[in-house]
Amino acid sequence: MKKIIITGGAGFIGSHVVRRFVTQHPEYHIINLDKLTYAGNLANLKDIEGAPNYEFVKGDIVDAAFIDQLFADKQPDAVIHLAAESHVDRSITNPTEFVMTNVIGTVNLLNAARNLWKGRYDSTRFYHVSTDEVYGTLGEDGMFTEETAYDPHSPYSASKASSDHFVRAYQDTYGMDTVISNCSNNYGSYHFPEKLIPLAIHNIKQMKSIPVYGKGENVRDWLWVEDHARAIELIFHKAKSGATYNIGGHNEWKNIDLIQLLCSILDKKLGRAEGTSAGLITYVTDRAGHDLRYAIDATKLKTELGWVPSITFEEGLEKTVDWYLANQEWLDDVTSGHYQQYYSEQYADR
Ligand code: NAD
Ligand code: TYD
Repeated sequence: MKKIIITGGAGFIGSHVVRRFVTQHPEYHIINLDKLTYAGNLANLKDIEGAPNYEFVKGDIVDAAFIDQLFADKQPDAVIHLAAESHVDRSITNPTEFVMTNVIGTVNLLNAARNLWKGRYDSTRFYHVSTDEVYGTLGEDGMFTEETAYDPHSPYSASKASSDHFVRAYQDTYGMDTVISNCSNNYGSYHFPEKLIPLAIHNIKQMKSIPVYGKGENVRDWLWVEDHARAIELIFHKAKSGATYNIGGHNEWKNIDLIQLLCSILDKKLGRAEGTSAGLITYVTDRAGHDLRYAIDATKLKTELGWVPSITFEEGLEKTVDWYLANQEWLDDVTSGHYQQYYSEQYADR
């Protein structure tokens, strides 16, 4: 059976990727490697934790000795690497942590893979899951393609750009089989409520203010997380060695328009008078170095591999809001930090 290590599988996107591989591919043995930082939560995978082809390993990708030993013990055939520090605001306060996990952690995984796979790169694969933020910012027009030059601005995007370069360097220098995808902003279930959409839903539910950075005119291109997971599955299986794909939903929204839409959806669902939740919108100091606009041209993925998003933004947002309304316990746990205490006790000896 093919063994795949998926890193960061207890996080937002990683949990959807792990679920997809575990449920759709009984022929694989999936090892979810995750440090369980504030963003990692095994409750995200409760529905598949007993699956026979699934295993969880708690560990830090920054710890090179641990990673080398893990590869020697588990003998994986492939890595799908999602573990990262992922929040731009946190990267502004603590850039070093982003260098450690996103750059050093990625290089540690590449080294372990290289040691294990030397001489059999044709039957192994290292897939790096990256972001469109490596391309920097757009003005009013244009879109990021796979040819757009890297021009990261935040410490987060600089660390992801750096790790992308290392992945390509291992392909070019050692002949390792690697693939990279750069995706736009994701939304959906199990999204940690520090990011815009879940934070807005959470605050609206609680009648708390919704912080809008600057004038709310920055534009993001939103993709439903399950469509991202499906794209990763497709690229993992079909991409040529060394390929890069952009993934996005052709779905650009100004932050303020998106927040207004969420307010209106939640007013209806919560039985509030139209306009009640919009009263919570509060303009706050802009994020330092705030990228104006991201937009992905996903033509290559569509023409070469046939991928298109499976649902509209309206459908995805509706599903997402419904999920947050139905999962108050999950929200309470992640906002209280309770889940970390529970799972760190359970996995203390690993
Ligand atoms: P997340 O913050 O929700 O999850 C990250 C996961 O990585 C967590 O489970 C965390 O515990 C784990 N982790 C962090 N540091 C670790 C370490 N040192 N060792 C082992 N595990 C560690 O992130 P996400 O939003 O799910 O993003 C996943 C990946 O996708 C990241 O690489 C991110 O750059 C990329 N990405 C995210 C988006 C997005 O919109 N969220 C868009 C494009 C690409
Ligand atoms: P975020 O979800 O942090 O994703 P990213 O910075 O990676 O794109 O932010 C999405 C957009 O929303 C971004 O332009 C910053 C803005 N934003 C707010 O206006 N208020 C908030 O509280 C947050 C978290 C983000």
